[in-house]
Order: sequence, then C-alpha cells, then structure tokens
Amino acid sequence: MDNKDKIGMFDSGVGGLTVMRQVQKLLPNESIIYFGDTARVPYGEKSRDTIISYSKEIAFFLLEQGIKVLVIACNTAASACSGNRLQQIFNIPVISVIDPAVQRAVEVTKSGRIAVLATRGTVKSGAYQQEITKRLPQATVFPIACPLLVPLVEERMVDHPATRLIVKEYLKPLRDYNVDTLLLGCTHYPLLSEMIQAEIDDQITIVDSATTCAIEVQKQLLIHQLNTEKTKPDYHFYVSDDPENFRLNGQFFLGHPIHKVHSSIEQLISR
Ligand code: DGL
Repeated sequence: MDNKDKIGMFDSGVGGLTVMRQVQKLLPNESIIYFGDTARVPYGEKSRDTIISYSKEIAFFLLEQGIKVLVIACNTAASACSGNRLQQIFNIPVISVIDPAVQRAVEVTKSGRIAVLATRGTVKSGAYQQEITKRLPQATVFPIACPLLVPLVEERMVDHPATRLIVKEYLKPLRDYNVDTLLLGCTHYPLLSEMIQAEIDDQITIVDSATTCAIEVQKQLLIHQLNTEKTKPDYHFYVSDDPENFRLNGQFFLGHPIHKVHSSIEQLISR
C-alpha cells in the first residue's frame, strides 16, 4: 500500500464500524485503517480531558501508519474534541462524525425542533447542542442520554423486547418535545434505527450520523483530490485489547467478516 493512501478512523471500540460500513459502501476503492480503543471503552461515561488525551494518542498512532484523512467515528470522542481541536494539530483533513450529522439535521428540520440521542458524555459536552444552534440559531435542541443502548447493542439485542422497552422509555419525552427531526448521535444507534423508527411518529425524520459521516468523507476526498482509483482496497484493524474479541464482535457492526485484527497496545503504551 502506498504511503498516506488510507482513510484512518477511530472509535472507542467496535461501534465506529457502523461508520466504516457506510464508508465502505460509498467508497469501495478506498483502503481503511480502523482503530478501536477496546481496552478503554466505553468513552461515554469518561471525562472530557481523558477522552481528548486518548483521542490524540490514537490520532498520532494512525498518522504514523500513513493516513490521508482522519475520521473521528466516535460521537463521544468527537464531542470532546469539538472546536476543531484535532484539526489544529494535524495537517490532514479531520472529519468529525458530529458536523455532517448536524448539517443534515438543520437542512431537514422545518420546525427547528431537533432531538439528539447520545451517550451521557456526548450530551454533557453540549457539542451537538452548540453546533446545531451555531448553524440554526432559532433551533431548539432536546438531548436525550441513552446509556443503556450501547451495552444492549453490544449484546446484539437489536431486535429484543427488552431493548424495545428501553427504547420506548428513552423516547417518551418526545411526546412533549414535538420535534420533527431525531438525530442518532452514537455509533451504536444506527443498528437500532428500525426499532426507533417504529416507535416514533412517521413525520419525524431520523438523521443517522454514520451515514452522514460517510457522505462527508466522500466529499472531503473529492475536495482535496485524495480519491484513489485502486480496485482492491486493504482494510486494517487495530485494537488496544484482545484482537479476537474485536474480530468476532466487530463483524456484527461492520456487516461482513473481519479476517485479521492487530493489537497495538505496545505502540500506544510506548508513546
Ligand atoms: N462510540 C461511542 C459513541 O459514539 C459509544 C460507545 C462508548 O461510550 O464508548 O458515542
């Protein structure tokens, strides 16, 4: 593989593979290197400073592997690093999963009333709220923290009555909020989008941050003339904990088999 030929992306664990799945669909020629910080997942309950320092470590690691763009696929990491924090350090395009989702949400909303489902960390950071009102000052944003959804999806209970019950509970406030747009602000939630759609009013539009992020990656590659014509892409997976665990769980998120996963723990620790 040529140097600086890959899309680099990272997440706290397997969840970001929902973003990678969409990127693979849109950009089947692109090679991708994915980092899952499985030793330190979940990020959703950690402090902002901790997440920023993890994100920087991972970004440097990926840069050393020769990437041409960096995708922050984790909503919690992207919200901690909001305000272009990583873009200021690196001289390659940095794409945060948050911005394209926000852009889409403000385009589709008519009433300006937007709900955001996310982890506690993302909600607490206020990043979605700030970015939405920056683009649409008259918007009213209703963040809903859904801490139980990540473990349920990781248990693959995406079609389970217990999950439906919890989804219903989290979505209860929507009755009063009267939103017309619902943003899925967490890597895991696209796998619940059918269930969520079934529980909300038909008039509410769902914005899936994995899909909007992939569209933005495609756009940025074009803008910076970084597309590749390569017909056979390479996919590399690195994790900070047990590679086999990631390989087995990751396939569910990615939608197809993962063959090899590298452990990067030595490189990260030695930084
Ligand atoms: N990847 C995280 C996100 O998108 C969810 C998992 C975690 O809490 O680390 O917010």
